[in-house]
Amino acid sequence: MKELFDFLQDEGIDAALLDEVQAFRDKHPVSGDMRERVPEPEYFYYGKKIWELSLTALLAGKNLLLSGPKATGKNVLAENLAALFARPMWTVSFHINTDAAWLVGTDTYDGQKVVFRPGPVWLCASEGGFGVLDEINMAKNESLAVLHALLDFRRCLDIPGYDRVTLKTETRFIATMNHGYAGTRDLNEALTSRFVVLDMPEMPEDDLIRLIASRYQGINDKICSQFAKLYGELERKAESGEISETALDLRGLLDAIALIEKGASSGDALAMCLVNKSFDSYERGLIKDVIDARIPNDLTRKEVFRA
Ligand SMILES: Nc1ncnc2c1ncn2[C@@H]1O[C@H](COP(=O)(O)OP(=O)(O)O)[C@@H](O)[C@H]1O
Ligand SMILES: [Mg+2]
Repeated sequence: MKELFDFLQDEGIDAALLDEVQAFRDKHPVSGDMRERVPEPEYFYYGKKIWELSLTALLAGKNLLLSGPKATGKNVLAENLAALFARPMWTVSFHINTDAAWLVGTDTYDGQKVVFRPGPVWLCASEGGFGVLDEINMAKNESLAVLHALLDFRRCLDIPGYDRVTLKTETRFIATMNHGYAGTRDLNEALTSRFVVLDMPEMPEDDLIRLIASRYQGINDKICSQFAKLYGELERKAESGEISETALDLRGLLDAIALIEKGASSGDALAMCLVNKSFDSYERGLIKDVIDARIPNDLTRKEVFRA
């Protein structure tokens, strides 16, 4: 993953930390068929401070909890970390119902005999993987017992009905949780205490400009910076409570630019990707006003992108 190392050097990430990651990789090479589980991220995470803190925590052997609003790059960072440490990655989404049999594994009949088919958590523990526990705060009771065992400081997965597995030293868990909108809940204290917690920030304007420019090569510089400023303004309005966090959606902003590149007008693209996500007509008006003050409605690909 040379490009990711190069990117992090360019971002000014502490060289001593990167050296330690390299030493970790040298000490724990990935074997054979696990290699294809090491992610190759399409996008890099921007944010120097969060990079340095998360590297420090993982190098210290800790599990990470990335906590923050939607589209703050939690999953992108988790995947980037697995790639950087060159570890096979397993993602478990707790949004859907996951029970112990699914997480840890289950006995199945292979046509001749009963065999154990390991689940993601078992594989992660025994293969030295990075396990992404996505939206861990949505975990239901059936999976909480497994999580408690998995994250125990003894680093040993000991669950009734299963053989004991000792976690490999290179195994880490990176959990994500959203907060701040309807339907989310807090994480129970016992679980929280098993993590080092990073509060994921909204992207600052200069990082956002660089992100947009790297993802949409050929975007007009002025318009790129208008998009970034628009996002900053939505953030301020959401902070002051003038609008909800519905429209504060970086994913939506990036999607809008993608639609413009495909041929939609700026007005249509921003309506579909930001404004219409609010179902309150008064709020829609407010969001639209913020957009109109920055981005004309009728821009098309040829104004937004250089030929
Ligand atoms: N700091 C960041 N660096 C890079 N991309 C980011 C960042 N914050 C948000 N994004 C982008 O926003 C989108 C959503 O990211 P994702 O990791 O799925 O968010 P989350 O899991 O926090 O909801 C992706 O396109 C991602 O690249
Ligand atoms: Mg996510």
